[in-house]
Order: sequence, then structure tokens, then C-alpha cells
Amino acid sequence: MAKNWKELTAVKEVADLSYKMWEKGWDEANGGNITYILTDDEAADLNYIPGTGEAVNLMGGVPDAMRGKYVLVTATGSYFRELRDNLDELVGIIYLPEQGDKYERVVGLENNRPTSELAAHIQTHAVRLAADPEQRVVMHNHASHVLAMTHCGPTNERDFTVALWRMITEGVVVFPDGIGLVPWCVCGTPEIAAQTNEKMKTRRCVVWQYHGVFTTGKSMHDAFGLLETVDKCAEVWLLSETSGSRNPGIDDQGLKDTAAYFGNILPEGYLD
Ligand code: 13P
Ligand code: ZN
Repeated sequence: MAKNWKELTAVKEVADLSYKMWEKGWDEANGGNITYILTDDEAADLNYIPGTGEAVNLMGGVPDAMRGKYVLVTATGSYFRELRDNLDELVGIIYLPEQGDKYERVVGLENNRPTSELAAHIQTHAVRLAADPEQRVVMHNHASHVLAMTHCGPTNERDFTVALWRMITEGVVVFPDGIGLVPWCVCGTPEIAAQTNEKMKTRRCVVWQYHGVFTTGKSMHDAFGLLETVDKCAEVWLLSETSGSRNPGIDDQGLKDTAAYFGNILPEGYLD
């Protein structure tokens, strides 16, 4: 059963991108986690018989939109710099059954459990699927520049978003829906998951104050590209803030014109 699961493109991408994230300094120790919803064809190749794998309670339950789905998940405690060399223990696939509020372990995750942020990931997938049927990936990590900006930047999400948009043209192109900002709270809890879900209804990226970033997307590279762009905007914001001679950046009209050119609709009330 599932003897070729490590040959899945998504597994190779998780192995590759988790290492790249660590190289960027975004995933110290076990920081970061990734989940990916398998396509129907990928799931069929596993030949898994529902009900046969070890069943474990899923905090917050299984959302209806996620029932019957197979999810690739990184393990709790996994070091992203080690992941590509130890796929059997640090990655695995779970199944979310049609009934009940447990997940079933299908393959991988040997001697291990899924990320402690599993509930937030699964609920985020469900919320994003309602907005975009192509939704497939949730990525979390501790991207340094975004994190630094939660210490010294605007503390409301509209101003945080607009400050990022003003930095480089790509900002309003890649995340026209803006950034959700969750005030600091303990991670892995139902509280942080609920706040994240609420904000994910209308956005693909949510920042946790003093902790890190959640991005979503239809592919691994889509979610990673969003993460890179948000962090790049934050890096330029930090550099310009500390340079002592800051220009105002792209003005409201420029942001509106750019959004219109790319057919993007910006959140109401963000710009004059
Ligand atoms: P896990 O090791 O459980 O995935 O947690 C890492 C993390 O970044 C918590 O927010
Ligand atoms: Zn984290």
C-alpha cells in the first residue's frame, strides 16, 4: 500500500521548499508546518481502505468541506532542515473520514504525529475552499521580516497591508486581498485557529503577531510565492524605515491603478 507515496510531486515540493525556507532563516528549530490536499488521482494511488489506519481525535472536528480528503502533513517537532532526509518520520498522509471527528494515519509520520497546528490548517483549508475551489496548500512559518514588522509596524491590518503594498509594485498584484493580522495569543489553541479562520474567509495570508505567517494557495509554489512576496515587502519596509530618508512609496492612486490594470479588487476602505 502506498509504496510510492514519496514519489508524489507534492512530497518532493515539501522536501525542497521546507529546506529553502530553512535556508532563508524562516524555520528555526521545529518552526513551520505545511499541509497539502491530495488530488483525487493522487489519493486513489494510495489504495487506502478508510477505517483501517490509526484514528486520532482532531481538535475542533472535521469540517464538512474536508471530509473524504487525504492531506499531506509535516510532523510536529520536524526540523525543516532535516525533513528532506527523513520523509518517513517527518512527513505523512492522513485521511479525514466521512463521519466522526478523528483523522486516520495513512502512511508516513512514523513514530510521530501531525503538526500541532493541524486544526488551524484543516479549518483554514475548509474556509479557503469556500472562497476558491482550487485551494490546496496551507503554509506556516516564522518569516523574519514580517515578524520584525509586527514589532515596529502598524498594528491594525489595514495600515499593515497598505504599508506593505506601498513598498514594491508586486505587493498589490500578489496580495490584493490584503493581510489579516491576529494579535498575539498562544499557538496551537482553538482561539488562534478561530481568529485565523475568520480572517481567511476574505484573504490568502494571515500574520500572527510576534509569531509568523500563514499563507494559502492552489499549489505549493503559489503559497510559497505569496510568502516570499509578503516577506520581501516587509524587508523593504524595514530597510526604508531605518534608512532615515524615506519616500512615501506608491501612492493611493498608483495602487488603485495597478490593481485595476491586473483586474484585482481591493478591500473596501483601504485607500482614499
Ligand atoms: P510544529 O512543530 O508542531 O509543526 O509547530 C511548529 C510551529 O511553528 C508552531 O507554530
Ligand atoms: Zn509557528
